[in-house]
Amino acid sequence: MNSTAEVGYSFGSKYWGCGYATEALRRVLEYLLNDCGFYLIEADYISGNPASGRVMEKAGMHRDAILRERGYNKYTNERNDTIVYSIKRDEL
Ligand SMILES: CC(C)(COP(=O)(O)OP(=O)(O)OC[C@H]1O[C@@H](n2cnc3c(N)ncnc32)[C@H](O)[C@@H]1OP(=O)(O)O)[C@@H](O)C(=O)NCCC(=O)NCCS
Repeated sequence: MNSTAEVGYSFGSKYWGCGYATEALRRVLEYLLNDCGFYLIEADYISGNPASGRVMEKAGMHRDAILRERGYNKYTNERNDTIVYSIKRDEL
């Protein structure tokens, strides 16, 4: 299969910092790439949320691009860069 897919995640704050996001993302990537046969999986986060980028790195994803000021935070009224990561089947 040559298809690609995008993943995202959100955990309750009570459970942050326990490694759950990394563990879950690794397993989901394995499932999509190995079991489902996707060619490439991508994910992105906004620059104001570095913990999310760290999760992508720890799961083995690679930084592809920085899309300048593509994200808008309505609570802070600020624009953030969007950081794009991906992983291919042969990089797992
Ligand atoms: C982002 C989120 C998924 C992280 O979940 P988590 O279960 O706490 O993640 P993990 O514990 O697996 O790993 C977090 C990593 O980020 C690091 N980290 C935390 N705060 C950080 C910061 N401000 N800057 C850099 N790294 C940071 C941690 O130290 C850890 O890395 P380490 O193991 O090398 O020390 C979680 O905070 C969340 O759901 N947030 C709300 C929704 C959200 O932001 N979703 C992502 C949208 S792209």
